[in-house]
Amino acid sequence: MAKIVGAITTSHVPAIGGAIAKGLQQDPYWKPFFDGFPHVREWLAKVKPDVVVLVYNDHGLNFFLDKMPTFAVGACDSYSNADEGWGIPQTAPFKGDSELSWHLIEHLVKEDFDLTTCQEMVVDHAFTLPMALCWPDQKWPVRVVPVVVNTVQAPLPSAARCYKLGQALARAIESWPKDERVVVMGTGGLSHQLDGERAGFINKDFDETFMASMVDDPAWATKYSTTELVELSGTQGVELLNWMVARGALPEKVRKEHSNYHIPISNTATGLMVLEPV
Ligand code: DHB
Ligand code: FE
Repeated sequence: MAKIVGAITTSHVPAIGGAIAKGLQQDPYWKPFFDGFPHVREWLAKVKPDVVVLVYNDHGLNFFLDKMPTFAVGACDSYSNADEGWGIPQTAPFKGDSELSWHLIEHLVKEDFDLTTCQEMVVDHAFTLPMALCWPDQKWPVRVVPVVVNTVQAPLPSAARCYKLGQALARAIESWPKDERVVVMGTGGLSHQLDGERAGFINKDFDETFMASMVDDPAWATKYSTTELVELSGTQGVELLNWMVARGALPEKVRKEHSNYHIPISNTATGLMVLEPV
């Protein structure tokens, strides 16, 4: 049977792609951010995943404000990068596993999650950059299943619903009959706001409490409504809902293998965690 060997949660800021393209990893602005990742790569080399289930929000490539699924799952054998631009080199396509995708979809729908299923899907910086941070040679050694959460346009799914999606996802993964090792990734956050009067908003106290809750009190954020989470973390900080899905896929008791936090990268307070089931 498949086994979830851990979760990685990380921010996803488009400018990271520009920094990678220009080789700025040791630049003083970027170093505290990139320094978070060598340990993640060592951990990945140790746990050797076959599959990454990557939970993120689509930034207008597959879904726009006119059509916005609450939850969508990719069911393709290949996903290509169609990010917004920035003139950076394209990453190689990602190998999917449509058979596994359909297994997860069947299971989640049986558990009453009403999903949008995508047999054609492209991926953006929220998917490609966390992958490139984990595997800088971009020779992806894993198959991927994208899971997309609406963190973009109200009404958003609640943190409680996202946590439950993660729990159901774990049951779905663990009922996959192949002997495979799975890492669940959640990307986005932490606090940031790109638009409106509060553009530039960061909330370090909230981020630190949220990251601590990911270890010891995983349902902590579920006490807030999505409006409250936007107030606390910003209109894009609410991408932390993707972290809630990833956290829900682990048992209540976890071990923190690694974490990093740095302000700012572009407009964003960046967080990084590696959690292992106990
Ligand atoms: C930024 C952050 C994001 O999460 C995103 O999707 C786009 C831009 C930023 O801080 O620039
Ligand atoms: Fe984003």
